[in-house]
Amino acid sequence: MTICDSVKYIGVDDHEIDLFEGQFEVPGGMAYNSYAVVGEKVCVMDSVDANFVDAWLSNIDAALGGRSPDFLVVQHMEMDHSAGVQAFAKKYPEAKIVSSKMAFAMMKNMFEDNFSDRQIVVADGSELDLGDRKLKFISAPNVHWPEVVMTYDEADKILFSADAFGKFGALDYDDPEGWDCEARRYYFGIVGKFGTAVQALLKKAAALDIQTICPLHGPILDKDLSHYIEQYNTWSSYGVETPGVAVAYASVYGNTRKAAQKLAQILKDKGCPKVALFDLAREDIYECVEDAFRYGTLVIASPTYNGGAFPAAREFIHHLTSRNYQKRKVAFIENGSWAPAAAKAMAAMFEQCQDITFAKTKVSIKIAMKQEDVAALEKLAEELLGR
Ligand SMILES: [Fe+2]
Ligand SMILES: [Fe+2]
Repeated sequence: MTICDSVKYIGVDDHEIDLFEGQFEVPGGMAYNSYAVVGEKVCVMDSVDANFVDAWLSNIDAALGGRSPDFLVVQHMEMDHSAGVQAFAKKYPEAKIVSSKMAFAMMKNMFEDNFSDRQIVVADGSELDLGDRKLKFISAPNVHWPEVVMTYDEADKILFSADAFGKFGALDYDDPEGWDCEARRYYFGIVGKFGTAVQALLKKAAALDIQTICPLHGPILDKDLSHYIEQYNTWSSYGVETPGVAVAYASVYGNTRKAAQKLAQILKDKGCPKVALFDLAREDIYECVEDAFRYGTLVIASPTYNGGAFPAAREFIHHLTSRNYQKRKVAFIENGSWAPAAAKAMAAMFEQCQDITFAKTKVSIKIAMKQEDVAALEKLAEELLGR
């Protein structure tokens, strides 16, 4: 694949993977992108996952037609992108390795070698001269690791964005949902905690004339860039992307589920623009996490369990709070067979979060939903819809 005359795709698709990073379901597989910038000098941008290093080295051969790379830029040391660095260094003994100071320290830990005889250490604003063009480096600490640098190719106006703007799914997977859904699940799953760092990056990127974004996962973005940048701006500022309510539930025997379903129905009947309902114990937890960040209002329904919230609800809240969940309205539905206590326990878990407003209406069910509980759900829906 050719991105433009001088930039070629040399990455790989992974359809063997079960869980990306040991936890994310990737039904469409995963792409580990790598690129060759072919100027008067040749620069390879990042490596790939350990299972694909041989394929990647073959891709380099095929793309360069007999030339040898002069440089390997290592933007990110996470293993899905750095596994082949040592094999590359061995195959191309003349090539220089270009990376941040911190990444070289990580290389020492990974390979017991940081290629000290042929390092080029770059920082924010450093340039690499390829003869007919210059690559300019942009430090992007904590997007989402501390050593990350991104790279701007002035000649072709390409931003190599490391893991930012990535998406789950192999490149040959035609995602029926388009970019947003799996890019959002990727963003909040992997980068969500680091909104401030992403905001800082977006400010730096705004000063560049970018026509193409080449991320390390997912498709190359070369149309409607403002859409992707706007999504990243909303996500990283913890803004509301879609007006609506996310209703998350866990249920032991189905009674708490019925209450959550009832609330979702009431919200829809009252004209709520979007209601996302999900089962925390049975659905991909990261689908639930992305929806909690997508909408401005979140309702969590949980049985009382061991005197607190149900495990799936606790785990869900932990996923949110550890990702800096903020700027949201949160409501609870609790169920308890004799002493409901889930709502108080869940509220306490949000204590460290900034700018969380709890709904005033309490819905506390004993075993099964009754008429007075439906009235409370009606009242809660009114409150959440601001009526
Ligand atoms: Fe990463
Ligand atoms: Fe990655």
